[in-house]
Amino acid sequence: MLEAHGEQAGAPRIATLRRKRRRKEAISTFTTIGSAAFAGSAFTALHMAWGAINEWTTQAGYARLSDKAGHPTLRELLKRIMKQEGGHIDFYASEATRRLSESPRAQRLTRFALKHLWRPVGSGVMPQEEVGFLVKYLFAGDEGHQFTSRIDRRVDRLPGQAHLHLLDTAVSRLSGLEVAA
Ligand SMILES: [Fe+2]
Repeated sequence: MLEAHGEQAGAPRIATLRRKRRRKEAISTFTTIGSAAFAGSAFTALHMAWGAINEWTTQAGYARLSDKAGHPTLRELLKRIMKQEGGHIDFYASEATRRLSESPRAQRLTRFALKHLWRPVGSGVMPQEEVGFLVKYLFAGDEGHQFTSRIDRRVDRLPGQAHLHLLDTAVSRLSGLEVAA
């Protein structure tokens, strides 16, 4: 598929990707350790809440892609991925809820970080116009909006995180970008 689109494929591409990822991961590990040392258990609550939102978002994306593409093989593949991801969702969401409910400080840190730093998972990896296209394809229109507003309502129910409207804001911002590009 990559070759068909004139992209580098096979071993050289994988080597480049891995090299980039190793560097990124090394940096992100230091940032994570640093933040955890600084913010302690509040950071773990944030990490869990962030993870839950990313899992809800990818799950919604898989469901929409499955519906929109209407392809039997893709549907089966996505069904299996979604089943596996379901376990991650339960873990992140229950840990986030428990940890946030125990700590007003964790609630404040999480709210601050989500409000100012949260971006849809993966949106930093791909070029902006592709992210814009993806967001529009999956989440624009009434049906797509039902999915994103459901996630926003779930975020509302996390202790101390009501009315952030993360998904609604992200969808209008990112799909707007694509039009402008
Ligand atoms: Fe996952």
